Amino acid sequence: MSQEEASLEARLEEQAEFDPPESFVEQANVTDPGIYEEFEENWPDCWERAANLLSWDEAYDTVLEDDDAPFYEWFTGGELNASYNCLDRHVEEGAKNRAAIKWEGELGETRTYTYGELLNEVEAFAATLRELGVEEDDIVTLYMPMVPELPIAMLACARIGAPHSVVFAGFSADALATRMNSADSEYLVTCDGYYRRGDALDHLSKATEGLESVEHEVEEVVVVDRLGEALEHSLADGHHDYDELVAEHEGASVDPVSRDAEDMLFLMYTSGTTGKPKGVKHTTGGYLAYTAWTSHAVLDVKPEDTYWCSADIGWITGHSYIVYGPLALGTTTVMYEGTPDYPEKDRLWEIVETNRVDVFYTAPTAIRAFMKWGSQYPDRHDLSSLRLLGTVGEPINPRAWKWYYQHIGGEECPIVDTWWQTETGGMMITTLPGINTMKPGSAGPPLPGIDARVADVNGEEVDPGEAGYVTINNPWPGMLRTLYNNDERFISEYWEEYSDEEADEWVYFPEDGAKLDEDGYVTILGRVDDVINVSGHRLGTMEIESAVVGVEGIAEAAVVGGEHDVKGEAVYVYAIPEDGYEDQEAELEEQAEQAILDSIGPIAKPEQVLFTHELPKTRSGKIMRRLLEDIASGNELGNTSTLRNPEVVDEIAEQVESD
Ligand code: WTA
Repeated sequence: MSQEEASLEARLEEQAEFDPPESFVEQANVTDPGIYEEFEENWPDCWERAANLLSWDEAYDTVLEDDDAPFYEWFTGGELNASYNCLDRHVEEGAKNRAAIKWEGELGETRTYTYGELLNEVEAFAATLRELGVEEDDIVTLYMPMVPELPIAMLACARIGAPHSVVFAGFSADALATRMNSADSEYLVTCDGYYRRGDALDHLSKATEGLESVEHEVEEVVVVDRLGEALEHSLADGHHDYDELVAEHEGASVDPVSRDAEDMLFLMYTSGTTGKPKGVKHTTGGYLAYTAWTSHAVLDVKPEDTYWCSADIGWITGHSYIVYGPLALGTTTVMYEGTPDYPEKDRLWEIVETNRVDVFYTAPTAIRAFMKWGSQYPDRHDLSSLRLLGTVGEPINPRAWKWYYQHIGGEECPIVDTWWQTETGGMMITTLPGINTMKPGSAGPPLPGIDARVADVNGEEVDPGEAGYVTINNPWPGMLRTLYNNDERFISEYWEEYSDEEADEWVYFPEDGAKLDEDGYVTILGRVDDVINVSGHRLGTMEIESAVVGVEGIAEAAVVGGEHDVKGEAVYVYAIPEDGYEDQEAELEEQAEQAILDSIGPIAKPEQVLFTHELPKTRSGKIMRRLLEDIASGNELGNTSTLRNPEVVDEIAEQVESD
């Protein structure tokens, strides 16, 4: 490090607050600090501002319908089509030749779809889906990696009013089957494979294996050919080749179906407290309005921008901020297939430079990895096109924030640290980049119109500096409407904790801990349920546990998250072997890892699997996970006096250290 750099770093280290650069403010979409008051005074009608970013086939008559809370309805009576909003209207307004999607394959190949071309592709695939028998309201599962055909398929579904359920390509065959079963989904679009670090990876065999465990009849399966000759695959009987089908429908014209604002746009499965993933339902009007609004206000997206979110479309971040929000605003959205370190650790910066990316949105895990690799990689590239940076998915530590600010943003880009969830549909707590001072490590105030608070167990707001729980005391357009086919679980998971049903006062509980400062900025402390966040990916410890206890020879297991300097959290498994299996720990460990791969996928691979003869338990027999978390994180151990078996804690801790 040069002397100059070292002194710069020392200066940043001491700085706790950063104001948005003048050059950014001058051009920002939202700059009037009065917006907070304006939204508050005019709530819920303030949300018309979001709805006005869309084109409606039929105007809505009510902004918010709360008669049946917490089953809220937004923009009731309105009708619209998401694919029309993301495509046709931009073409009609003259943007036919503007790039909609710029795709980069891992091997260096690129594909650009203009709005005109993307519309044609979407219509051809919409016609294909119709011919295959897909009708309005049929749920189509998309089990696909980061290929352009994924957003094309999403928009084709939206065009004909068939909700999609995207399953992350890194999930296992079992995970696919569980989701198709839960959604009763009879149609699958998948892909032969994709590239990872230069190797062709087979994806189709996972899909085919998953199909074997689907309990109902699957009507049709369509397979995208990504790998060509790199992977010879033969299609199973009755499965279709994507390109062949689409070629037959080239030039097709498919009118966008008018959907009720409250009609389902998609389902997204996410992890919760139990072993069963939850099918989060998002709607056409509220969700699209909310993602467009937050893309405009927080990501400052403009039609002439090249915007890049490096998430995977298989997660909510990709749905909201690669596909729907940016395309609704008519911007150019970048999609990258591969990993950030292939062929070298400067791959992302090369993409920023060659595409002249204006806005870049990524996860703190990625930033921590970039930091570890060193600033020589971004330094090789001209990143001066960047105007704004964002993070999402997990808390960002001030050091990583400052590294991002200095080495990627060149101290000229504001950073938005955006807190939200699959369930919220879009961003909830973050600074507005043209208005607010930034405080590294703290997400910021709740967005205008969002009544987020930090409360104690009784729902009373805690004093600044004290830890509490995030609650959201007003509904918002992007909110989930229910859990698919499970209204009861929707209430019990999110509303029961803090609502006063008798008084008809409904409070949403996101299950995150947080604290507030004197200025109303929220610092997120992390999940307070059995969900862990590995590299910004949300995993249910119960799902992992049930995989592990399925192994013959394992009697009991506890899975917790332990702190990890790059991933944020990592998976730790503590297991008790059954009698007679004590000397087979190496085999059991291997089988436990395999069981996790089979039921979830490589993202849930444990950092450590540790066998012990007992787990720390309370007198009532409950496993004390908090202690296990402390052990896994190497923290000082808390009070063990309430344990039935305090001695095992030290035994396990010693084993962790020596392992
Ligand atoms: C965590 C991802 C701190 C949080 C969009 C939340 C964050 C969970 C942040 C949702 C952030 C997300 N700071 N924590 N900026 N953003 N989280 O559903 O614990 O995959 O509840 O949605 O990620 O994860 P999900």
